[in-house]
Amino acid sequence: MSQTKEEILKLLFQHKETFISGQAICEQLGCSRTAVWKHITELRKEGYTIESVQKRGYKLLEAPKRLTKEEVLANLNSRYFGKVIDFHEVVPSTQKIAHHLAEDGATHGTLVLADEQAGGRGRLGRVWHSPKGTGIWMSLILKPDLTINRIPQLTLLAAVAIVRSIKKVSDVDCSIKWPNDILFEGKKLVGILTELQSEMENVRAVIIGMGINVNIEWADMPAEIRDIATSLKIITGKTQSRVMLIQTIMTELEKLYDLYLNEGFEVIKPMWETYALSIGKVIRARTMQGEVLQGVAKGINNDGVLLLEDDQGVVHHIYSADIEI
Ligand code: BTN
Repeated sequence: MSQTKEEILKLLFQHKETFISGQAICEQLGCSRTAVWKHITELRKEGYTIESVQKRGYKLLEAPKRLTKEEVLANLNSRYFGKVIDFHEVVPSTQKIAHHLAEDGATHGTLVLADEQAGGRGRLGRVWHSPKGTGIWMSLILKPDLTINRIPQLTLLAAVAIVRSIKKVSDVDCSIKWPNDILFEGKKLVGILTELQSEMENVRAVIIGMGINVNIEWADMPAEIRDIATSLKIITGKTQSRVMLIQTIMTELEKLYDLYLNEGFEVIKPMWETYALSIGKVIRARTMQGEVLQGVAKGINNDGVLLLEDDQGVVHHIYSADIEI
């Protein structure tokens, strides 16, 4: 889409309930009335219903149901998270693209967003089912000035931001299973995959991949995940706005990230613990080395590491594992 058309669409989304005059559009974008008319005509052909009334201007009545970056950008209140969006109808994985963009100098806060992923990936090399038009599949590129050992904290911070955003937008209360699963009544709603680009001890970029099952129907889930996954639509019985959820996540995430930079993980930790599912419960941790540890989850330490106390009273530090509750 041309830059001017993108900007016109953004203005129409921003004035969704009201008219915006052709003159105001021309002045804000520095283009001619003919150019505005040409782009409005094109937008109509693309499925946007735009009313035009003499002396009042243009009003967006309805947008096609598909996800667009203009709609996300139109009312995005963050300062830098999601302010640059690399949008794709379909990609193998937003994570892969984000890695390339980060290497090519993408700015802090750039968001890679897709309507569908053909090869979505989860933790431990698993597949992440990412069908068209029903979820949020996105990867946020951060360029933090942090040491490597602090990066796992960002996953926990992202989980808090997402849980809060889901509550705000859909009024659904979810829980977090360490480190990065967001569950509703024991079923997975969101997965977070944090990946790193580093050189020795220096972090070059962090990619936070977020997969959120928003409007996927139970019947459309692959059989192997039907009993373990859920979606906001299944939970609430209503179609939920992906745009509002993306916007809210970007602002919440940015707010928490700023807080974290100013005050450290100490302020995020208690927030995370309020939503944590496993604290105080007996859990089983299957580590990456294939070791299985059973004990009570005592909480997380200031590095975001899970503390598990076995029946001998030994406290194990769990850096990465699959948790069974
Ligand atoms: C998990 O295993 O729980 C993490 C799943 C992360 C999925 C998201 S969807 C957007 C981004 N692109 C990917 O390929 N994966 C992440």
